[in-house]
Amino acid sequence: MPDLSDKSLPSLLVDIKPGIIDLGWGHPSPYLHPLDDIKEASNKLFSLGERDSLQYGASQGYGPFLESLARFLSGQAAYQTVTRPQELFLTAGASQGLDLACTLFAKSGDLVLVEEPTYFVIEKIFREHNLDVRGVSTDEDGMIVSDLRAKLESGMRPKFVYVIPTFQNPTGVSLSENRRRELIDLADEYGFYIFADEVYQLIYFDELPLPSMREFDGCNRVISFGSFSKILAPGLRTGWIHAAEEIVDKFTSSALAFSGGGFNQFGSVLIKHAIDLGLLEKNTDLLRKVYSNRSRVMGESLLKELGSSVEYTSPNGGFYYWIQFPEGFNTEEFLSECEDQGVSYRPGNAFSESGKFERYLRLTFTLYEEPEIAEGVARLASSYKRFS
Ligand SMILES: Cc1ncc(COP(=O)(O)O)c(C=O)c1O
Repeated sequence: MPDLSDKSLPSLLVDIKPGIIDLGWGHPSPYLHPLDDIKEASNKLFSLGERDSLQYGASQGYGPFLESLARFLSGQAAYQTVTRPQELFLTAGASQGLDLACTLFAKSGDLVLVEEPTYFVIEKIFREHNLDVRGVSTDEDGMIVSDLRAKLESGMRPKFVYVIPTFQNPTGVSLSENRRRELIDLADEYGFYIFADEVYQLIYFDELPLPSMREFDGCNRVISFGSFSKILAPGLRTGWIHAAEEIVDKFTSSALAFSGGGFNQFGSVLIKHAIDLGLLEKNTDLLRKVYSNRSRVMGESLLKELGSSVEYTSPNGGFYYWIQFPEGFNTEEFLSECEDQGVSYRPGNAFSESGKFERYLRLTFTLYEEPEIAEGVARLASSYKRFS
């Protein structure tokens, strides 16, 4: 028998080199995984002997789950949108929902527009569908919708526009109310869909965010993607789409949802109990508090360690700090110096194919406890002093 002991396969997506505080990964820290809550919800499921949880599920998703989710979202101060179960569709996470939406709403060669910078994996997902991805500029109020308008007026005809309206990844900013309305008016006028990736909508700190994009959607152009990855646990691989019924019908009648039934039937039965038992609400509250404190620690450390040598805005929610270094600085070159000093991050150019974000980097405060965050920022600052 050959020795296979050195051939172990990875357990997790994160891959952190030993000795490094990696502020590049937007994942929750292990102690934040709500094991007891999942146990309680599972106990409920098993005590009720719910055999339907192991059957092929309804293509739209397990009905009682969609009802519980609709009640949960309607009651969220940060969502501010009355939500009906008929407008919801079960996904295996926002990534899977977005991928399926590309299959259903675009075809090879179609033009799609994204914010510049944007979530670093999304351009790859769109490219796997052979979509032609172009960027729209952003500022502290999110996508510059007048830039989008100019592109449309010059003849560009996107199939959809992908935006992260609230606590954007990587910049942390939110799309202003006027721009939300203008974007939806443009979608109506030019006949494109808005893929609104709203996975951070419920992770606010001191002030409530603007309502979800569906609240502004008078013309049924918004397809909103939500996820339990950011409010419960990413390993559950469960999320939802919130859109007009006619759009939900399109997802429901997709061949994929017909072949396999609802995506993640077991997970959604479990989450239905987590919602009904008040556990999701409790966990979301806890995450908001923990992340808010960690964000504050990161902000204080940045101020103390780097002072005015960099620029950033402290986020009001979400997972990220987007840091701007002086003109001419290259965060890809800086990375190896940082890793030598025991800290890592994601360079700005990972978030756009335009190559415009060489002097930016993104830091995350979710994976580490407060002392490690402070230590990570201190290492970043001492690397900067050596490097510049
Ligand atoms: C903007 C954005 N969308 C989607 C995802 C992935 O979501 P899910 O785990 O639901 O697939 C992430 C994860 O970092 C994200 O930042």
